Amino acid sequence: MTSRTDQQRDDQQRDQQRDQQRDDRQESALSTPDPTGPGAPPGPAAIEAVGVTRSYRFGDSTVEALRGVSFTVAEGEYAAIVGPSGSGKSTLMHLLGCLDRPTSGTLRVGGRDVAQLSDGELADLRNREIGFVFQAFQLLPRSSAVDNVALPLLYRGVKAPQRRARAAAALEAVNLGHRLTHRPSQMSGGEQQRVAIARALVGEPRILLADEPTGNLDSRNGAEVMRILEELNSTRGVAVVLVTHDDEVAGRARRQVRVRDGLVELDTGAGPGTGPGVGR
Ligand SMILES: Nc1ncnc2c1ncn2[C@@H]1O[C@H](COP(=O)(O)OP(=O)(O)O)[C@@H](O)[C@H]1O
Ligand SMILES: [Mg+2]
Repeated sequence: MTSRTDQQRDDQQRDQQRDQQRDDRQESALSTPDPTGPGAPPGPAAIEAVGVTRSYRFGDSTVEALRGVSFTVAEGEYAAIVGPSGSGKSTLMHLLGCLDRPTSGTLRVGGRDVAQLSDGELADLRNREIGFVFQAFQLLPRSSAVDNVALPLLYRGVKAPQRRARAAAALEAVNLGHRLTHRPSQMSGGEQQRVAIARALVGEPRILLADEPTGNLDSRNGAEVMRILEELNSTRGVAVVLVTHDDEVAGRARRQVRVRDGLVELDTGAGPGTGPGVGR
């Protein structure tokens, strides 16, 4: 029989372990992708979730963070996920981004069922297909902007001069060509998030997932980050799925998905030409 304080301590330790695991997964997500090459034919849905659930064991109880979500990310689309705190948005993003696996249901990324993949294969798939942007940037504090952005290419064995050239080009694409050697502490929040976007893009993923990318930014910097995400979508065809609390940010997306209590409550629909009001 464990006492109440023992139980609380156990819970606390479990929480810490869980956070660490999540951090580890987030770090490994930073090693981005092989280019799929220009002109890749429009394939199947980039990501397809069918009846996906995710529960977390929590002490003696189970939290059902997602209770059966079906959700497709089409090539080149732009979607905003909204919903109250604790509704399961980050859990969903982690699944879509292959940082985590469903408890049940089917999740296909790039046409492959993640349940059939080993952890290593899943990491490879994520690295090829997906760039992830976090609310708190997650940059290496002691590294320059260009080194932060080049890091995913290091994991892929790209040689130093080429890493640097590609990282510099990615930084130029987010209007930070003049900040290559600055460290995170020498940049504004908006600049740091743009560095994080450059890092997510340097490997040319087909999908960019962003969990509250403007959540730590003032409105001016938030607007600049949004402008960049929209431009990447419209000029390079990168599919963008972002979580936001900001109605204005959500309102600019072609597709809105509202999550509540672990379920998709409203989805205005995927694909070009669909707009708000196509709800089901
Ligand atoms: N690793 C975890 N272990 C236990 N419960 C979790 C874990 N991650 C999230 N939860 C719980 O799952 C629910 C959904 O969380 P989350 O996906 O982070 O929501 P949101 O991003 O919408 O705020 C919440 O009740 C949260 O407390
Ligand atoms: Mg969240």
